[in-house]
Amino acid sequence: MAVSVSPRFLFKRIKHSVCFIQRRNRVKTKWAGTRPKVASSDLALHHFDMTYSLQLGDLWPSVRVGMLSEKKYGALVNSFSCDSDVISALQTQGCRDFISTALTEHLSTDPELHNPTAAPITSHIQCFTFPRGDISRFRPARSDSNGLLNYYLLDAASVLPVLALDVQPGHSVLDLCAGPGGKTLALLQTHDLRFLWANDLSGSRTARLRRTLQSYLPTELLMEGKVHVTSVDGRQWRDKDESTFDRVLVDVPCTTDRHSLMEEENNIFKRSRTRERQMLPLLQMELLLAGIQAVRPGGDVVYSTCSLSQLQNECVVQRAVTVAQQEMGIRVEVQNLSSFTRLFSHTFHFAPQPAVGELVLPHLCANFGPIYLCKLRRMS
Ligand SMILES: C[S@@+](CC[C@H](N)C(=O)[O-])C[C@H]1O[C@@H](n2cnc3c(N)ncnc32)[C@H](O)[C@@H]1O
Repeated sequence: MAVSVSPRFLFKRIKHSVCFIQRRNRVKTKWAGTRPKVASSDLALHHFDMTYSLQLGDLWPSVRVGMLSEKKYGALVNSFSCDSDVISALQTQGCRDFISTALTEHLSTDPELHNPTAAPITSHIQCFTFPRGDISRFRPARSDSNGLLNYYLLDAASVLPVLALDVQPGHSVLDLCAGPGGKTLALLQTHDLRFLWANDLSGSRTARLRRTLQSYLPTELLMEGKVHVTSVDGRQWRDKDESTFDRVLVDVPCTTDRHSLMEEENNIFKRSRTRERQMLPLLQMELLLAGIQAVRPGGDVVYSTCSLSQLQNECVVQRAVTVAQQEMGIRVEVQNLSSFTRLFSHTFHFAPQPAVGELVLPHLCANFGPIYLCKLRRMS
């Protein structure tokens, strides 16, 4: 049955619905303003549960517990400090240098590790850790008679990218994303560098890097001009067209998984930073390409993150290798680090076989990481 509707009635209906929409909009604006805020760390946990449960499968629950628990530190000994008691004080507390322990104990019991290319180690670096399962904390670092601090506390796994870089006497090294300076300091412990260029885009992080260097290095060393600090966009190295460095460390900005789970401040899972977070793999690839361009043919680049994300780790490396070949005519080979990781498997938990590179997984007994590292050699 047809129903006839008078134009007046129709107009009233339209007017009513317009009013209704307008009112709804007003209310919606109010909702948006008063919407209960979800903590960025909760957003991060939700995101990780979705992605890492697929990526890590059965391993994810234990990694998750590790990441939500207090992390373990390592004490990177400052070999420039004249505090002669530092080693014995650390040993008295029950700590051991995980690097020399690996070299003396595990190297001698594993014949396959005798191949010198299997486990190249820069011997001057000393990083002390408490034994597995021991969650004791380090005391704060102390100043020596010259005012230099005796050790630097950091995630012990973050020394691995520096060790994998295998810096040799006389090398020139570029640390492309260096702030606040933990790995720069580890690089400088090798002593024999010809030149170290430490760069970070962020002015505040570069300022922190300078303060770190001043607190740990003798003034003469800083005055010698061996260490150069800049604050520019690392991607600009792609335009320099100078392939001069023997070694390049590309320790990129990432989702800093542990930080994102534990801290609200500067959390990349904040809703307003969604786009920045989504663009990370592109930024990371561009920084890695810049690093590849800065290293001389035959030289090595180490790419590292403190995230478990395949998208930020293996995918970035694989894409950069392809782009370097196709768009820059540079052949790059991924180096096998399996012997290197075997050497340190008594201290760290490594993920079983990522597609490329190696990944330290957090674990309650050895709660370091996550740290991803991949070593690349420039062939042409
Ligand atoms: C993971 S942190 C580096 C940590 C440092 N290597 C250490 O061990 O102390 C990444 C750094 O990259 C810097 N960064 C972000 N974008 C950059 C860019 N385009 N060029 C250079 N550095 C950048 C950030 O400011 C941040 O300090």
